[in-house]
Amino acid sequence: MASILVIEDKESMAKMLSQALEAEGHRVVLARDGRDGLNQFKESKLDLVVSDLKLPHKSGLEVLEAIKEQNPMIPVILMTAYGTIETAVRAVKEGAYDFITKPFDPDHLIHLINKALEKQRLVTENIILREEFAKQLKLPKIIGKSPKILEVVDKVQRVAASHTTVLLLGESGTGKELFARAVHYLSPRKEEAFVAINCAAIPRDLLESELFGHERGAFTGAVARKMGKFELANKGTIFLDEIGDLDLALQAKLLRVLEGEEFMRVGGTVKIMVDVRVVAATNKDLQGSIKQKLFREDLYYRLAVFPVTIPPLRERVEDIPALVEHFIAHYCEELNREAKSVTPASMELLLKHPWTGNVRELQNCIERAVILTDGQVISPENLGLRAKELTEPGLPDLPIEGSLQEVANAATRYAETRLIRRVLKEAGGNKTKAAEILKVSYKTLLTKIKDYEIESS
Ligand SMILES: Nc1ncnc2c1ncn2[C@@H]1O[C@H](COP(=O)(O)OP(=O)(O)OP(=O)(O)O)[C@@H](O)[C@H]1O
Ligand SMILES: [Mg+2]
Repeated sequence: MASILVIEDKESMAKMLSQALEAEGHRVVLARDGRDGLNQFKESKLDLVVSDLKLPHKSGLEVLEAIKEQNPMIPVILMTAYGTIETAVRAVKEGAYDFITKPFDPDHLIHLINKALEKQRLVTENIILREEFAKQLKLPKIIGKSPKILEVVDKVQRVAASHTTVLLLGESGTGKELFARAVHYLSPRKEEAFVAINCAAIPRDLLESELFGHERGAFTGAVARKMGKFELANKGTIFLDEIGDLDLALQAKLLRVLEGEEFMRVGGTVKIMVDVRVVAATNKDLQGSIKQKLFREDLYYRLAVFPVTIPPLRERVEDIPALVEHFIAHYCEELNREAKSVTPASMELLLKHPWTGNVRELQNCIERAVILTDGQVISPENLGLRAKELTEPGLPDLPIEGSLQEVANAATRYAETRLIRRVLKEAGGNKTKAAEILKVSYKTLLTKIKDYEIESS
């Protein structure tokens, strides 16, 4: 079913057309003249326009031009009387899908409409396919039965059916993109586009045009009009990944879009209206960014209508065996290797590893192990997990935020604390000896021990 705008001033003709189209299962919006037609176009979400060429207030040609400006993807079919065929031909050159000469058989028009809709669907799909490259378009399997992951799955299932904006929070590699896709593929929009954009991966000057599109000549290099991701995602879902990296100017523009679902292309003057479900994700502490004035509080509240936090893998160790099995099966098939399983010793290592890179790190580890293992059993050596002590008791994780200087200070403190502790232990608590090994003066060592609160037993 499609929503079709019919612009026709002759009452009997309008009635005949709407009956014929409704009988085909389409929704019809009628307009009596060009001006009315354009207003209707702005107000309702339409898939196709059938317009008479000769109309009161604004001709069919002017209607065509205005519609193409707002949404170049909408097919426009013009109806023409014998005397205006030349104009109709010109219209097709200017972007009309086709024209039909009056009087015509309604079946002929329906045939044209179906062809146009099919073509439009293919074009949109093509653009999206290109954008998505070889990425899987369907919902990948979500593995895990831990209470924590089941809670996330439950939340996602509940919110999917609505239009509600979802904010996915979680460390890198926890599955934010996976769950963003889940929101889309569990929603009524699943047949429409899922368009993802990584706000951190695109330079600031290009990001605005990526998101909102641009008009020809909007900036050097803008040789043609381009649709932005918001337009491509129309009727579907847009996934704004790494939203915490969006700069303040674009945050303001995004906020306006979320409030009114309306925006202008870069260099444009026409307001574009879209119907898009927004899913955003970040691994940043947005509350912290708000305090540092790096993220707008009002935008945060718009986005965080329904926040979902995906717990890190180390907090749901129960999921590891199933994930391991899933990834082994996946890579054995993809790499064409014989079936494999892990030894108990390997599983023990896998369960103990801190997985700071979460599921992605585990996935990479298994891919590597499958490549390295010739037989059927994956031994600990092939996992390549050195029993590295990433965290030490009493030492907080390294904070990776704030200024470069702050991070550098924290890293220095972290490394020095570990080294001093180790050397003190090796020297049996003898600080003079420890200072010698560390090649600092006794006084310096004492100051550091005091500053870093190192217990010197
Ligand atoms: N529960 C899960 N079941 C199966 N696969 C998973 C699960 N969670 C994550 N994955 C897989 O792990 C990989 C990383 O997930 P994803 O890209 O969604 O993480 P992310 O949170 O977006 O990470 P980043 O912050 O690094 O972008 C993907 O290949 C994804 O399919
Ligand atoms: Mg991601």
